[in-house]
Amino acid sequence: MADRTRALDQLRKEIVTEDACPDLRQGATQLVMGAGSSDADIIIIGEAPGKKEDELGVPFVGASGRFLDVMLDAAGMSRDDVYITNIVKYRPPNNRDPKREEKEAFWPYLIRQIDIIDPRVIITLGRHSGMSLLPELVIANDHGKAIRMKVGDKERIIIPLYHPAAALYNGSRRQELIDDFRAAAEARPQS
Ligand code: URA
Repeated sequence: MADRTRALDQLRKEIVTEDACPDLRQGATQLVMGAGSSDADIIIIGEAPGKKEDELGVPFVGASGRFLDVMLDAAGMSRDDVYITNIVKYRPPNNRDPKREEKEAFWPYLIRQIDIIDPRVIITLGRHSGMSLLPELVIANDHGKAIRMKVGDKERIIIPLYHPAAALYNGSRRQELIDDFRAAAEARPQS
């Protein structure tokens, strides 16, 4: 097992043994840690697992995930080219918004997860995810902007985007998200 994969596995075990967020853990089927390449240049951070994610243990596998696949495809990428996770790693009951204390409970683990993967670009999806890193974020003004900031042990590029769920109910948001995502993907180093 590669070092980063092993470190992510160790982190997952710590979240479980330290019982990071007992309130959410009790109502959830399982921890949804993340998926994709542990060597990715881009980490994509959503809000919290939904019903399907809770069942399968994989982030973004429901309706929002299908649109995330469209966004990746439009940028010429697949799930194997990125690492996908959430701020909160257990499903909140009835898909309610994660509470502040729940986001805080997972925060140190998320920072370690980012440090392990060591991406150059962090794409946040939705308000909860974006505002966790950029508290002053006004998503309507700031979506798609590349912001340099120290996250964990390094300076990284943060690009806040609307949540893909927004595209499911708003047709014009669809193209906006695809365009933002394509531009964000180009911010990664070219190999
Ligand atoms: N929405 C999210 O923010 N994350 C998921 O994993 C699924 C839906």
